[in-house]
Amino acid sequence: MKRLLISLSLLLASLSNAGVNLPPRGDAADREEALRAALPDIFAASAEQYRGMLKRLEGTTDQFPRRWEKNALVTVGPKEWTSGFFPGSLWHLYEHTRSPEWKAAALHYTAMLEQVRHYSGNHDIGFMLFCSFGNGLRLANPDGYREVLLDGAAALCQRYVPRLGMIRSWDSYKNPVIIDNMMNLELLMWAAKQGGEKRFADIALSHADQTNARHFRPDNSAYHIVDYNPLTGKIFGYYAGQGASADGPWARGQSWGLYGFTMMYRETRKPEYLARAVKSADFLVRHRNLPADAVPYWDYEAADIPEAPRDASAAAIMASALLELSTFAEAPKATLYRDTAVRQLLTLSSPAYRAPVGANGNFILMHGVGHLPGNSEVDVPLNYADYYYLEGLLRFKRLSAKLPAEN
Ligand code: GLY
Repeated sequence: MKRLLISLSLLLASLSNAGVNLPPRGDAADREEALRAALPDIFAASAEQYRGMLKRLEGTTDQFPRRWEKNALVTVGPKEWTSGFFPGSLWHLYEHTRSPEWKAAALHYTAMLEQVRHYSGNHDIGFMLFCSFGNGLRLANPDGYREVLLDGAAALCQRYVPRLGMIRSWDSYKNPVIIDNMMNLELLMWAAKQGGEKRFADIALSHADQTNARHFRPDNSAYHIVDYNPLTGKIFGYYAGQGASADGPWARGQSWGLYGFTMMYRETRKPEYLARAVKSADFLVRHRNLPADAVPYWDYEAADIPEAPRDASAAAIMASALLELSTFAEAPKATLYRDTAVRQLLTLSSPAYRAPVGANGNFILMHGVGHLPGNSEVDVPLNYADYYYLEGLLRFKRLSAKLPAEN
């Protein structure tokens, strides 16, 4: 009986989110130790949250959790840009636990996305397929995953505009390209190396080169939307999109750019991509409006700072990217990037951002911002915040154990 009570109290402790606090005055080594020590509890609680999410989804077909808002779960179908993040998070839980429970769940939700393997209605097929099938292939190599990814790469290339040298993001505006699109290039780089057509890599490099040349301001912040004339390449205009202004640094867009160029450097070793990633990182980690706890406001120049909402998703994407960039950059920047990422992951793991088990509609993180100017998804849990948070934690786990990177 006594042993049962001890086990129960250990289980409850592991499922609570208490006890992961930012060491306010410690040094970088103290912070790393705090995060390392907290990892088992964080993953146990995250797994318990997602067990609850799987229960919520029972009886649904082709639906993926996107957010929790007004006390209700909002789900999306396979063709929505965030559909791959939930299966991807299930693969992250499998990566940490290697448990058949998570493999089965990940296989189930990934299979629901096979129907989009030829989808070319937007540029998001990289998010949708590489987070789901891509992680699954890397971790378990199930039959047919490689072929789905190669089809997805071909579908994405249908959106390539040769005279522009870029992939068209959406079918709205005239010919918009958004900074987020850098994320979809990882699918193309993988496909070119895995027996796909050479043009997959050519298109990815052309898109990255054009983005590098045309999507950044002199201060190294990125525009969200640049709208082009596809025949002449002339820019019709810059648009605020999900940011506060066309000229301002929308937080998640900055994180996408940082992550995208870090990933492209990993894939190509082209020094200009590393240089761009470092410039993006320096803009962010030294920004006067980055709070001490390193979770950005939804826009670095939001008018109502310090009252403006924070965006946990921007922090999670940035943390994951900075951890990878810290392996490529030189000291002392590498140290600064790694410590900033650790501070972000500690903050996100604290009760201020990580929900108690059973709360928050079973999403892991609270306080994301999807599209504030559209009054949509303001201060809510978001599936992509959870995805990049788990990815960042796994990257930290590998780095601190001195294991090789996942790719
Ligand atoms: N378009 C993806 C995002 O909202 O960040």
